[in-house]
Amino acid sequence: MTQQFRIDQLEQPIEIGSKEAKNRLVINAMECNDADERGNPGPKTKRRYKNLFEGEAGVVVLEAVTVTYESRGRKNQLSILPRNKEALKQFTKELKEINDDVIFLWQLTHAGELSHPDFSRRVTPKQLPGFEGDLLTEEEVHDIMDQFVEAVQIAEECGADGVDFKLCHGYLGSQLLRPYNDRDWKFGGSWENRSRFAFQTLERMVDAVSDPDFIFGSKISLWEGFPGGQGSAGPDTAVMDLEEPLKLVKGLEERGADFILESAGSPSITLALAHPDHRIPKDVYMHHTFQQRVSEVVKPETVVMGSGYSAFRDGDNDLQAVKKEENTLPYWGNKNIEDGVVDMVAIGRQSLADPHFPKKLLNGDHEDINWCTLCDSCIEFLIRQQNVGCAVHDEEYSQAFQNMREEFGKLSFKRT
Ligand SMILES: Cc1cc2nc3c(=O)[nH]c(=O)nc-3n(C[C@H](O)[C@H](O)[C@H](O)COP(=O)(O)O)c2cc1C
Repeated sequence: MTQQFRIDQLEQPIEIGSKEAKNRLVINAMECNDADERGNPGPKTKRRYKNLFEGEAGVVVLEAVTVTYESRGRKNQLSILPRNKEALKQFTKELKEINDDVIFLWQLTHAGELSHPDFSRRVTPKQLPGFEGDLLTEEEVHDIMDQFVEAVQIAEECGADGVDFKLCHGYLGSQLLRPYNDRDWKFGGSWENRSRFAFQTLERMVDAVSDPDFIFGSKISLWEGFPGGQGSAGPDTAVMDLEEPLKLVKGLEERGADFILESAGSPSITLALAHPDHRIPKDVYMHHTFQQRVSEVVKPETVVMGSGYSAFRDGDNDLQAVKKEENTLPYWGNKNIEDGVVDMVAIGRQSLADPHFPKKLLNGDHEDINWCTLCDSCIEFLIRQQNVGCAVHDEEYSQAFQNMREEFGKLSFKRT
């Protein structure tokens, strides 16, 4: 018998700021390293987003777009600089022509210590073991704030509906917030100092746009899962203490955030926490706890989006469940909305496996869904600085994956 899923919650519209998302599905930011040499969307970028806009999710988040080309994590990363304006404008126009209902949010980022030294300058608030980098000066952090402000103005001018200010996954926004950043400077030590960048940058970005309906929000890692990481009780302990992440949530909300996109982990260190995988799938359940904690502290109008759902798949997973047949991505998405754990469900790897997933799910074409197998090939592409796609469901990327393995061999990466 063909599997059918409950979608009565997932199909409901929801207000984000003063705009309406047509349903509760969000395409999470998924960087695929396929921009051109100036950081403009390339042919593969355009194809990916065309497919996603056809897929009819309520919200699509444009992958991590760098506010500086000098320090960036991906060789072929999208950038948001004055030189990218025309291309980004055209890109957005074409996507809106495909589907004008999608709320299009752009994720703005600076890679900090995750900037790749092969082609960019690695900078850090405080050197974390295993990550080198030039220590940032206070003046440089002020310059980076200016870059975010300029970026949000470009985003507005180019037709984005809003931005996702990236404060997760070990990129600069996370690095500054971490208790590990106990360096004695304006942006380190006390919570007031460590949160200064996040709060002041958001305040300045909100002031910099002219459209009152422009949406603001942040993806944050509630707990990075290593000593001194976001959500740990101090600079040298991994004991979880959500007091600061929840203060961050409240502080962002007070400064104009319309949504909080929950995440956890830091993929270059705690990969499976950020992307629960088939070896350590249980971390999906931690995400539910984090989503619930955020939902408990925000105002009713602040939209809470939750990450990490791909690991449930169509129920073909190794997760312990109360009812095995219900342990699916749609089941948990629908149930968590019903239970008030989360307002919207953000889909990461599942959107690479099937960019039309929302449409198929909401229209009842459940047998046509291509499910993510959690094979990690998309992550391997990304780590190898290749164009990223789904090696299971997309023939072009199956071939590319074989070629990559022949050229570089098998990658063994940490998945703590
Ligand atoms: C190839 C790849 C690229 C990603 N790019 C981004 C990104 O640009 N920004 C971001 O915040 N998270 C990024 N993520 C993380 C996802 O958005 C998401 O948080 C994570 O995969 C967990 O959700 P899932 O279980 O639905 O995949 C990426 C993940 C993968 C596998």
